[in-house]
Amino acid sequence: MKGSAFYENHFDYDAMSRQAANIIAAQVILKPNCVLGLATGGTPVGTYKELVAKYAAGELDFSQVKTVNLDEYVGLDETSDQSYIYFMRSNLFDHVNIDQNFTNVPRGIVDDADAECQRYEELIASYGGIDLQLLGLGPNGHIGFNEPDDHFPVQTHKVTLTDATIQANKRFFEKEEDVPRYAYTMGIGTIMKAKKILMVVNGKGKAEIVKRAFFGPVTPEVPASILQLHPDFTLVADEDALSLI
Ligand code: PGA
Repeated sequence: MKGSAFYENHFDYDAMSRQAANIIAAQVILKPNCVLGLATGGTPVGTYKELVAKYAAGELDFSQVKTVNLDEYVGLDETSDQSYIYFMRSNLFDHVNIDQNFTNVPRGIVDDADAECQRYEELIASYGGIDLQLLGLGPNGHIGFNEPDDHFPVQTHKVTLTDATIQANKRFFEKEEDVPRYAYTMGIGTIMKAKKILMVVNGKGKAEIVKRAFFGPVTPEVPASILQLHPDFTLVADEDALSLI
């Protein structure tokens, strides 16, 4: 795990988002045809806003970039404003010059779940792997939708969401019953194969899990703890998320 600390007078959500966007922008500048692994959730919204602003300022060109997202809810597609493909279009893809034929999110509505997971793994391999994977951190330590477990799932697979995740994500839905119970997610192995990994975390509510994930033992009970073993992992967090370390 590489240490990475940025100090501003007050390292808040906006500062976190700027730093994360700078790291992603550097990747796109260094390798214009890079493969970005992308994440959804509340945390990266500011990062995407910063990237859109850099594009609008003429500082970034996404025309050769390919993307693969971590996960998608089973049963939702782009017609649902809670789907992750909808999130990615509205937060990033529709605002930059990316070729949407090369943006990928697992398909939430398919006949054959196993075939979809296999297709997704093969797609990432056909791109030559992920250059930079962006991650958020679930309050229970999940990355993608890899929930606490007794093992680290290797490949893209279908998961049953834990109650903790349903509780954490219900804020995005009208009512709790609307939160899907299943999702497709890249596996821990899929994520760990990325050449670089960047995690964004903010808020006091994540302070305890940051401590457990990065200053405790590596265990599938805290899926993010595996990132301690990645050779090029960077955590960009606000002061609140780092308040217990
Ligand atoms: P959040 O989700 O950014 O909405 O807190 C993070 C995650 O569950 O990965």
